Amino acid sequence: MSDSIHELYQTREYPPMSHPSSDPAVSAVAARMSGLAVPHPRRASILEIGCCSGHHLIPLAQRWPDSHFIGIDLIESSIRKANEYALEIGLKNIQFQAVDLLNYQPKNGPFDFIIAHGFFSWVPDAVKAALLRFCREHLSPTGIATVSFNLESGWKSRQPVIEKARAIQQAIGCDEVESLQILQNLTEKNHPEASIILDMLAKGSEILAFDDFSPINDPWPLDRFVSAAAHHGLRWLGESNPNENIPRGVSSEMIGELKSNAAEALSFQTAMDEHSGRTFRSGVLCRDDAALERVSTNIALDFSVRVVSDTGNRVEKALFEAIQSFAPAAVPMCNVLNVMKNDDQRVVLRQLFEGVHNASIQLRIEPVYFSEEPPDFPKLDAFRLLCARNQLPLVDAWHVPCRFPDAHYPVLAAMDGTRHFDDLAALSKTKCPELAFTPWLRHLAARGMFAE
Ligand SMILES: C[S@@+](CC[C@H](N)C(=O)[O-])C[C@H]1O[C@@H](n2cnc3c(N)ncnc32)[C@H](O)[C@@H]1O
Repeated sequence: MSDSIHELYQTREYPPMSHPSSDPAVSAVAARMSGLAVPHPRRASILEIGCCSGHHLIPLAQRWPDSHFIGIDLIESSIRKANEYALEIGLKNIQFQAVDLLNYQPKNGPFDFIIAHGFFSWVPDAVKAALLRFCREHLSPTGIATVSFNLESGWKSRQPVIEKARAIQQAIGCDEVESLQILQNLTEKNHPEASIILDMLAKGSEILAFDDFSPINDPWPLDRFVSAAAHHGLRWLGESNPNENIPRGVSSEMIGELKSNAAEALSFQTAMDEHSGRTFRSGVLCRDDAALERVSTNIALDFSVRVVSDTGNRVEKALFEAIQSFAPAAVPMCNVLNVMKNDDQRVVLRQLFEGVHNASIQLRIEPVYFSEEPPDFPKLDAFRLLCARNQLPLVDAWHVPCRFPDAHYPVLAAMDGTRHFDDLAALSKTKCPELAFTPWLRHLAARGMFAE
C-alpha cells in the first residue's frame, strides 16, 4: 500500500458507515435477475475487504446468524474496534482480521459474497489487480463480489476543482473544507463548478479527505473496469442495486436514444454514464465459468418488495397501493399478487420491473417485517444500543446509516427496553428540549429501528 494512503488511515479516522448497495439482500437480487443461482445470504459465507471498524458487516451478521462473516482491514486500530464491538454484543458468527489484502490467505473460503466498498478507486493499481485476482480465486462457483468504484464520467469535471482547492491549501495551509469555502467565494454562482463545490462541501470533512482529496482517487470508465474484471476471469453482471442501473434524471426519451445507438448493454451503460455525468458505481461480478440461466419476469415471485418512499407517481396506481398496504414491511411478491388477484399477473410483473428500473420499487431477497408503531417500551437491538452509547450512526432496517445530533444520543442510549415511552419523553425534554419526541419516535419506528 502507498505510504500516503497508509498515513491517511493511520492519522484520520474513517467515518463508520453501512452501505445499502452492498447489502447482500439487494445484491443477491441483482445476481439472480442476471440468471446466477447465488446462494441465499441467510446461509452463506461472506467476506468484506476494507471493512474498517465493522459498521457495514456487524448488522448483517446480526441479521443472518447462520451465515459466517469475515472482515479484513489493513488498519489494526479499526480491526481492534470491530472485534471489541462484536465481543460486546456477543456475536459468534463474525471474525475480524488486521491484514493487508496483498498478504491475505483465507482459511475458511470460498466466499458466496465478497464485499469491497470504497476500496477499488482508492488503492494503488497493484492492489486493484490483487482484489480482482482474489475474487476469482476465492469466490464460490455461484458467488458474487460487490465492488464499488468512482467513475471517470462524473469525476472529469470535479478534478479541476480539487486541483484548485489543493493549490489554496498549499498556499495558506488550511484544510479541505476551508479551501473549498475560499474557492466558493471566488466562483461565480452560475459557474458549473459552483454546484460541484456545493456538493463537495455537503459531503463534509470526514468524507472529503478519503474521497475527493484522497492521495489516491482513481476514477475509471465502466468499460475499463469490466475489461479488468474479465482479464482476471470475472464477469460483470450490472449494478449491485438493480434500482441503480439507470441513473436518476435521465429522461425515457434519452434512454431510448442511447439504447438504440448502443450495440450491447455495456456500451449503453457507458453512454448513460457519460450523458448523466455519473460519479459512482457498485458493480456485481461473478466467476466467468459460472452458468447463467435465462430468467423471465416470473423471477420476481422469488423476491420481496417495498415501495421506496415518495416515488408513488412513478408506479402504476393499483400496484403501488397493493405494495403500500403492507408498508413499512417488504413482503413476498406473491402476497402483493394475492391483493391484486383480479389483475393480469404478467402485466403486474411488467409494471413491477418498470418500478424497479425507475427506482420506485425495491426488490429484496427476503421479507422484512416490522411495525411503524413505536413500542410502549422502545428497545434498540444490541448493536444499535452500542452505537447509541458511542455516538455512532445507527443502521436502519434497510441498512442505511442514520446520524443524530449529539443531544439525541443519551435518549437513544436509554432505549434498552426497560423504559416506558413516558419516561423517555421526559428524558428527551431535559436532554434535548427542542426535539418533538413523539414524531421522532414514530420516525425511528418507521425506519425499523425497533425491529426484533
Ligand atoms: C475508504 S475506506 C472504506 C471503508 C468501508 N469499506 C466503507 O466503504 O465505508 C477503505 C478501507 O480499506 C482499507 N484498506 C486499504 N487498503 C487495504 C489493503 N491493501 N488491505 C486491506 N485493507 C485495506 C483501509 O484501511 C480502509 O479502512
